[in-house]
Amino acid sequence: MITLDNNLKNKKPNIIQGGLGVAVSGWELARAVSKLGEIGVISGICLDNVMIRELQNGDPDGRLEALSHYPDQEIVEHIKEKFYVEEGISPDQPYKVLPTHGVDPEPRLQRILSAAVFSEVYLAKEGHDGVVGMNLLSKLKRYTLACLYGAMLADVDLIIMGAGIPVEEANQISNLAAGKPARLTLEIDKSLCSNPRNQYFYKLDPADILPAPPELPCPDFFPIVSTDTLARILDHKISADVISGFVVEKPVAGGHNAPPRNKQYDDDGNPIYDDRDQARMEKMQELGYPFYLAGGYGSPEKLKQAHAVGAEGIQVGSLFSLADESNYPPECKKKLIREIHRDNVAVRTDGRISPTGFPFKVVELEGTLGIPENMEKRRRVCELGYLQQIYLDKDCEIKRRCPSEPIQSYLAKGGDKEETEGRGCLCNALFANIGLAQRRPWGNEGEIFTAGDEIVNLPLGSAKKPHYTASDVIDYLYSSTGSD
Ligand SMILES: Cc1cc2nc3c(=O)[nH]c(=O)nc-3n(C[C@H](O)[C@H](O)[C@H](O)COP(=O)(O)O)c2cc1C
Repeated sequence: MITLDNNLKNKKPNIIQGGLGVAVSGWELARAVSKLGEIGVISGICLDNVMIRELQNGDPDGRLEALSHYPDQEIVEHIKEKFYVEEGISPDQPYKVLPTHGVDPEPRLQRILSAAVFSEVYLAKEGHDGVVGMNLLSKLKRYTLACLYGAMLADVDLIIMGAGIPVEEANQISNLAAGKPARLTLEIDKSLCSNPRNQYFYKLDPADILPAPPELPCPDFFPIVSTDTLARILDHKISADVISGFVVEKPVAGGHNAPPRNKQYDDDGNPIYDDRDQARMEKMQELGYPFYLAGGYGSPEKLKQAHAVGAEGIQVGSLFSLADESNYPPECKKKLIREIHRDNVAVRTDGRISPTGFPFKVVELEGTLGIPENMEKRRRVCELGYLQQIYLDKDCEIKRRCPSEPIQSYLAKGGDKEETEGRGCLCNALFANIGLAQRRPWGNEGEIFTAGDEIVNLPLGSAKKPHYTASDVIDYLYSSTGSD
């Protein structure tokens, strides 16, 4: 059996607090979990706009102090000058937004993103020597390299990556660690262009981020897989000293889920899973890596079961998302916990809502865009653009579009009308979830909460006492298991 290498050696935690985007698992939650001896994970996605919104709110959580440790103070000064408002902008003033990353890398935007991610990891690691990981989505290719680099500058221990097949990402980590240029192949829709090039890359050169890139340690790397077949493919394609373990996630998990292998969806566009979507534990064991089970594993019984089938432990997301230390605003967490205990909340697996095309778990909570009628009334705006897809237009020029953007503009870019149906703007909604909603002349952007199917059986908090801490989650997971 391969042992957990580098940073995880000898630590053998049983619990990974799953990465919860956007910034739901911020540094505070990750730090709390890591201090308790388990693996705390920040979400690395969209942190550049999260950071600048915090600064526009007067920096309530001490981001500037963390940035003062970043090795490129020139970009920190630029960020401060452009976005920091000491007394905070007024509650109806729209937030400034960073330009979307294009296909040709713009070093200034990469530097801002790298600094933002550095500050998040720095804060998560402050004051203890526990393990801190970062979660990334492989779909967000144009953002991945700068996120990785910023996190590595802050000495992140572990990268956990899902929503795609992160072979190239895994293999690029050593380049970044050596201060060498790294690149990822872009997924491009070439159907409108008659003579496309074979491949298109997104690049990051550490020398564009720092004048003298240092040698950095390589973090551990855990791909997230839904099946043992995918784990086997990754094992073949990524060298064994890069993979440190796997997270095996079932489709009942919160957030995005793997598409069904049979490509079957019901009349409402929701995925129909079958046996082929199950990972076989004996096959996972044969691969010889440590693995953690995710998706409905948030209970002491499931932790025991995970150990019984050879897993190192479990990855839990939904329970942690409602803990005091998560970045959902306190009032919103209280409402969610109360309404769950009153049986007023359902979870659906929505096969349409995410512009990625992956199924996404939606919490149906009154007053949010998780209720389909509310979502239909939302005015489409797209300016964050993290989930934009790249395509070649008729002249073979590289362009970007998102099926959740205004329908007319999507069609004008050669997009298919069908692709726009049922789509929601996860970028704007996930910022709204953490109390950083964009303000529009017609009202604030609304929320779309996500959680796993099991959240309806929430074992913590109550309608009367609608809150609990990360430590309560861990105590609960260890209760009467006899685990050691
Ligand atoms: C609010 C929320 C946000 C999530 N965001 C992400 C994400 O950005 N990337 C990811 O790989 N998984 C994400 N997940 C999945 C978790 O990391 C974790 O694997 C999952 O929640 C485990 O299953 P559970 O929900 O049954 O606990 C998210 C889950 C929740 C509840």
